[in-house]
Amino acid sequence: MRKKIVAGNWKMNTTVPEGVELAKAVAAKAKEVPAGVELVVAPPFTHLALVADALKGSPVKLSAQNCADKEKGAYTGEVSVAMLCSVGCDYTILGHSERRQYYGETDAKLVEKTKLALAAGLKVILCVGENLDEREAGKHFDVVSNQTKAVLYNFTAEDMKNIVVAYEPVWAIGTGKTATAEQAEEIHACIRKVLADKFGAQVADDTTILYGGSCKPSNAKELFAQPDIDGGLIGGAALKAEDFIGIAVSF
Ligand code: PGA
Repeated sequence: MRKKIVAGNWKMNTTVPEGVELAKAVAAKAKEVPAGVELVVAPPFTHLALVADALKGSPVKLSAQNCADKEKGAYTGEVSVAMLCSVGCDYTILGHSERRQYYGETDAKLVEKTKLALAAGLKVILCVGENLDEREAGKHFDVVSNQTKAVLYNFTAEDMKNIVVAYEPVWAIGTGKTATAEQAEEIHACIRKVLADKFGAQVADDTTILYGGSCKPSNAKELFAQPDIDGGLIGGAALKAEDFIGIAVSF
């Protein structure tokens, strides 16, 4: 049975003390979440070590929001997978649309980053999703399938045990416009089919696929009730422990 996950992507929000407080509040409320639902928080790099401390003794997992595409060396401003592991990260998010859009994240770079992350023992949350023009042109299935293939078809069934996919329609991120449960479900089913074509039905069935984009306590239940939606990647609503946990109790 695949894992259910609710992950909070804090993006470039909170100071370090604010982040530590938020992490503590999430950890304190983690027991409200049904057994079998994994909570993950993804603070900025500067927060990771102290948030790791704040989460000690709780079941909440720690994620980075990105990692370098090189192992180490003269890459000013970058953060390596070894550094992330050394502060206790379990996961890294990769390929978020904001990184693809504003920081030139390419599929080729994502393949390199994913290889490094998996080799270091980090799990990867790989984001895919179409923008509004692509959806309006009816290209959303193709765009998402191609993004998924471009990265994940470079990996093995064994690697897929440590990869989570997050479907985040760009038009729904931070806009308050959530995809309907039907719109999300049909893309999740499509991603699972793309995985099945390469890795077989069992691997596809075992892969956790999250929905992201204006997910909140009021709409999580309907989204999570869909057969192919295994949780959420939460932005804005992850900045309040009450809302974040309010989403995670929606299973
Ligand atoms: P949002 O962001 O929940 O604020 O829409 C989701 C995300 O970008 O991961």
